Order: sequence, then C-alpha cells, then structure tokens
Amino acid sequence: MGSEEINTSEESRGHFKELMAIGLIASVLGVALGLLIDWFPTQASTQAETVDTLWDVLIIASVPVFVLVITVVLYCVWRYRMKPGEELKDGPPIHGNTRLEIIWTAVPAILLVALCSYSYVALTDIEEAKANELGIRVVGEQFTWTFYYKDASGKEFGSPQLYVPRDQPVHFTVQSLDVIHDFWVPAFRMKIDAVPGIDTELKITPKTNGEYPVICAELCGLGHAVMRQTAHVVDREEFDRWLRERAAGAAAGGGDEEGGGGAPDGKAIFTDAGCGGCHALADAGTDASTGPNLDENLAGKHAAYIEQSIVDPSARIAQGFADGIMPPNFGDTLQPAELDALVKYLAEVTK
Ligand code: CUA
Repeated sequence: MGSEEINTSEESRGHFKELMAIGLIASVLGVALGLLIDWFPTQASTQAETVDTLWDVLIIASVPVFVLVITVVLYCVWRYRMKPGEELKDGPPIHGNTRLEIIWTAVPAILLVALCSYSYVALTDIEEAKANELGIRVVGEQFTWTFYYKDASGKEFGSPQLYVPRDQPVHFTVQSLDVIHDFWVPAFRMKIDAVPGIDTELKITPKTNGEYPVICAELCGLGHAVMRQTAHVVDREEFDRWLRERAAGAAAGGGDEEGGGGAPDGKAIFTDAGCGGCHALADAGTDASTGPNLDENLAGKHAAYIEQSIVDPSARIAQGFADGIMPPNFGDTLQPAELDALVKYLAEVTK
C-alpha cells in the first residue's frame, strides 16, 4: 500500500511537470501568434500607439490564461480519460486546499488590478487636454456626418469633408440631430457616441498624412452600414488653404479643389458627402434604399431638377418616400463648385 502511494505521488508529479511544459510552450506560441497578427489599420494618430501597446499588453496577459485553461482541460481528457474496465473506479475525495484557493484568488485579482490601472493610465494619457486644440463640431444625422469649422473671424461653417492638419491636437465635439450614431475613425483608434441632446468629446492628434474612413459605429437605421465618409490628414499649409477656400465658399466657382487643380470630381463628392448612405447609384456602386434609387429617379432629368432635389429636398418628394428624411443642408455644406460637379456627375451617369 505504502509503495503504491509513493508511486502515485511520483506519477502525478511527473504528469504535472508534463502538463506545465505543454502549457508553457502553447502559451508562448499563442502569445507569439497574437503579437504577429497585424490587427489594426495605419496608426494615423498619436493615440493609436498607446492603444496598440495596450492591446499588445492585454494579449500577453490574457492569452496564457486562456491557453493554460484549455491545456489543462485537453490534457486531463487525454491523460485521465476512463478506459474500459474502469467504470466503477473513482479518485479519492478531496476537501479544500487553502494554498490552492489563495493562489487562484490572488493571481486573477493581481492581474485584473494591474490591467485596470494600466488601462486607466493609458486612457488619461490619450484624453489629456493639449494647448492650441483645433475645435471641430461633428454632427451626425441619418445618414451623414457634417463637420463644422470656424473661419478666421470665428464664424462657423459646415463641410461634408473632414480635414485635419498633421501634428495638430484636435478636439471634436460630437452631436446628433436625430438618433444615436457613433463617430469612429479606426485609423485614429478613437470612437464616441453621438447622442441627441448632449455633447460628447473626442481628442486626437493626427500624425500620418492620408485618407482614412470615417465610420458610423452605432446601428442608426437603414443607411447605417453606408454612413461612411473620409478623414483627410494633410500638411498644415494644405489644411490652411482648404479651410480658407471652404470659408470663402469658393466664391470664384469652379476653383481648385484640395489644391490639386481642376474642377471638383462629382463622383468623389457623391462618396465624400455620404450620398451613397441612402441612395442607390450604379456608377458609384451603392445600393442603399432609404432614399430614392437615383438611376431610376433621375433618369432623363435636367440639371436644374437634380440641383433642386439636392439643395431643397422637400420641394418634390418621390413617391413612396417621406419628407424630412434627406438632410436639407447640402446647399450650405457643399460649395457651389462642388454642387455643380455633383449635379453634372449625376446628370451624366443617370441619363
Ligand atoms: Cu449613423 Cu449608424
């Protein structure tokens, strides 16, 4: 009897070592895999570095826990499964193990407190107020975003495009005109709900030039999935030029868009202003049905009709659609040259 107990104890110690070795190797592989996968888009803001590092730390802390639990379960199924003839055998009853209980309470507690503290520090860090923040008011509505800037004299004006200068701390004040939306630029790693009746805040400092999708991340109705626009991170000079031209309303008409020269691109405006969020248009590859299908509805229509439908959507309501759904402010947020280009483009692709 005595020698059998010693054998059993030595055997379980061997099994334990085997289990730990397998668990350790599997954890290292799991963490390596988690860190090797390229989870995120471009880091377009300084906040992105902090968020991505936090993610890596969470991978390193949580993958071993998951892998160890699974390893123990699978190892026990393999090593201690019931073999034929063992149906009536059962292991010795075990009551309480203070040391084990202290360990399995203390380890998760320490892990959770450490991760919560680190997350708190990271959040405080990325939400820190900076000097000379550029304020932009972001207004969501079914199914478009409008971005409000201030001109040199402090007068506010709206734009369907989001432009931010690189290395400039930006402070977004986010609002909604109807239901809850969610302002999200994955490349900035930050998102916040747009809630009717209250202002929510979001801070980022863009650090990489480029064009990044602006996405609505809260189910807000039929056009939700296509409530997408573009965030442009540009050099300071380009931003200043864009802002001046916007503020001036491009009084000259047909002026330079985005400093690139030439007339504005109607198709790009269709996409940028979020028209595809509600309207199907074959040429732009959109198939939303919240608003009238433009291929059918604008077929053979004159430019004047199309322009009125954009700037004064209540003037004529297509059969089967309700008044007040289409944002009535495109006449203000689009510049005359952009409106012209959009009308020309729609007339061209629907004729
Ligand atoms: Cu707006 Cu989803």
